[in-house]
Amino acid sequence: MSKNNGFFITFEGPEGAGKSSQVAMLAQYLTGRMRHCVITREPGGTELAELIRQVVKSYNGKEKVHDATELLLMEAARAQHVREKILPALDEGAVVICDRFSDSTTAYQGGARNMPQDVIDYLNDYASAKRKPDITILMDLPPEVGFARIASRESEGFDRFENEKIDFHNRVRQAFLDAAAKEPQRFCVVDATLDKEVIAEKIRQVVDVALF
Ligand code: TMP
Repeated sequence: MSKNNGFFITFEGPEGAGKSSQVAMLAQYLTGRMRHCVITREPGGTELAELIRQVVKSYNGKEKVHDATELLLMEAARAQHVREKILPALDEGAVVICDRFSDSTTAYQGGARNMPQDVIDYLNDYASAKRKPDITILMDLPPEVGFARIASRESEGFDRFENEKIDFHNRVRQAFLDAAAKEPQRFCVVDATLDKEVIAEKIRQVVDVALF
């Protein structure tokens, strides 16, 4: 917990889990309960980190994007985001709600790309200045369901991650579930196939217990 009672909530999950809607619904609820909320996302969240986001998600030039490069770009974006935006907001007492954070690195670069977890743990700690989320909502769903959802709404085609095969996304999902099993006190796993309102209510209950 930071010096002025800021609270840090992250949302994680595979593609198409509906994180963004739940982030917005939770922020609206907390704002109604007089908490100042800062909504943000990774990779991104600041001017510089959003530039890194464009590169890491959408580079489609001649070069292969090496796994090590991808990992370090994610962590570079995080280092900037944490220091420029997240820590200052927490110090002011805000509830920071972040769409993806370090667990996405564990799931995508670790579980799916098979990069060594000790390197990822070290870099996650370094980039985040060891500020762990107070609560992480993992919106779990089978990749096939997520892709059926995004296929109907993508207008500009898929990015580098969305273009990966279904096996990749199954490994992402499993790595998220493994991370949640390791830290059950931090994670709340919700079934993202449920109705949006049902999910929102469950998330509100979990956050209420921790926050009020
Ligand atoms: P999204 O904002 O649409 O979820 O896109 C972010 C993409 O970046 C998503 O496919 C997951 C991926 N990602 C990683 O591979 N590692 C990370 O550390 C983060 C934060 C995201």
